[in-house]
Amino acid sequence: TRPLKVALLGCGVVGSEVTRIITTQSADLAARIGAPIELAGIAVRRPNRVRDGVPAELLTTDATALVKRGDIDVVVEVIGGIEPVRTLITTAFEHGASVVSANKALLAADGASLHAKAAEHGVDLYYEAAVAGAIPLIRPLRESLAGDKVNRVLGIVNGTTNFILDKMDSTGAGYSEALDEATALGYAEADPTADVEGFDAAAKAAILAGIAFHTRVTIDDVHREGLTEVTAADIASAKKMGCTVKLLAICERARDGRSVTARVHPAMIPLSHPLASVRGAYNAVFVEAEAAGQLMFYGPGAGGAPTASAVLGDLVAACRNKLAATTGAGESAYTQLPVSPMGDV
Ligand code: HSE
Repeated sequence: TRPLKVALLGCGVVGSEVTRIITTQSADLAARIGAPIELAGIAVRRPNRVRDGVPAELLTTDATALVKRGDIDVVVEVIGGIEPVRTLITTAFEHGASVVSANKALLAADGASLHAKAAEHGVDLYYEAAVAGAIPLIRPLRESLAGDKVNRVLGIVNGTTNFILDKMDSTGAGYSEALDEATALGYAEADPTADVEGFDAAAKAAILAGIAFHTRVTIDDVHREGLTEVTAADIASAKKMGCTVKLLAICERARDGRSVTARVHPAMIPLSHPLASVRGAYNAVFVEAEAAGQLMFYGPGAGGAPTASAVLGDLVAACRNKLAATTGAGESAYTQLPVSPMGDV
């Protein structure tokens, strides 16, 4: 079978982890997809600044030429921001590539038209990594719950602010000390304003609301308050009341079912509530659906490796679809592993 060609746009914390997994797990990925993956090029702004282990011969500074090559099956975008990424993704669609993106800002601003553009060119757009890092949330909402009616999606969707609030709560650390540590660990965005002012959580809320309620929601529709006004004194007084402070994203369908709301703001959570025990850069999201009842999704919401896990999952799905479209092949074969009757649990 011919290899599937993958182009990577961006090679920072997430991109270098994606590269590492593609190069070190190539046999497993090929088995799951049904064809090998070939990393065809990596577009970066500063080739001399990439991390060790990224193949230098694949680096280019010309992202436009890479997506225009015409032989790329899947473009993985981990640059972030609106432009030039919107143009690059649109160009990739026009040249027949499916796209896997971790770009919440772009999807929250313009997801509907990107979906339309992908459909127009018969390719796919995946973005599990855009919301809540490693936690599967987009696919469960879009596929597993497609036959149910979701009424509410609520939770912690920003790892940086949760890390900061948790640090302040548990150690009494100051805000800037906690933020510096979040940045050093690779959780915070390059410009942490997006995290601490709630833009990052608002973008994720818009994406989740759009999928959960099958409607068009953009970041401008989301009411937003960040945590820059939360002081150590607020956290101490919440503690006295048996509560902790969390930055919540809340997306709801109105009772009459005719409208939806989405908002992000700090909230006091009783210590007995499961959200109160979400520590560090972890995220947790409750989904309330009519038939399913209440579901809780929990896990690492930020960081290079967890985000790369979600990107890779999308990449496998995008490659399988590409393969099915070109060869008519269905699901790939299961890897044959010896099965022990007792198992090791
Ligand atoms: N800065 C984001 C966060 C990264 O802290 O959650 C994951 O989207």
